[in-house]
Amino acid sequence: MSVRPIITAPDPRLKAVSEPVKTVDDEIRRLIDDMMDSMYAADGIGLAAIQIGVPKRILVMDIAQKDGANEPRVFINPQIVWASEETATFEEGCLSVPEIWDEVDRPARIKAEYLDRDGNKKLLEADGLLATCLQHEMDHLNGVLFIDHLSKLKRSMAIKKLTKAKKLKEAG
Ligand code: NI
Repeated sequence: MSVRPIITAPDPRLKAVSEPVKTVDDEIRRLIDDMMDSMYAADGIGLAAIQIGVPKRILVMDIAQKDGANEPRVFINPQIVWASEETATFEEGCLSVPEIWDEVDRPARIKAEYLDRDGNKKLLEADGLLATCLQHEMDHLNGVLFIDHLSKLKRSMAIKKLTKAKKLKEAG
């Protein structure tokens, strides 16, 4: 298990559409372990494989760690099979979009199908932070960031800020 560096925007890799996992094997489980380590090391509550540069449809999440307990979750090839018309607004942030937070509207409740780390098919009904986080992470699999849900003006301001921060980091 190891912590891998997290890619930050703007970076063309974050726009990639990730490929479905064909077989859930030990190699995939090693990748999942690295994703967990990388997420916890960065104090994140969710991470998609593409955020460490691997274009596979895998997510890890732990929305409980803020309360001191760990509740790691893994989603392989997740798909939303139902979404409520009712929406909910959360202030979102992203390990790949450092120092930026903004409110995003998404369906308040969803049902999602996915494979667990043993390759078993699962169905999850989610609401609240879990539903939002899952939708945010699933967006990553399609090359979408939460700032893509903001107004054009807010998005271009965010990209400007990210580009500037990246240049400063490279120079420093
Ligand atoms: Ni994110």
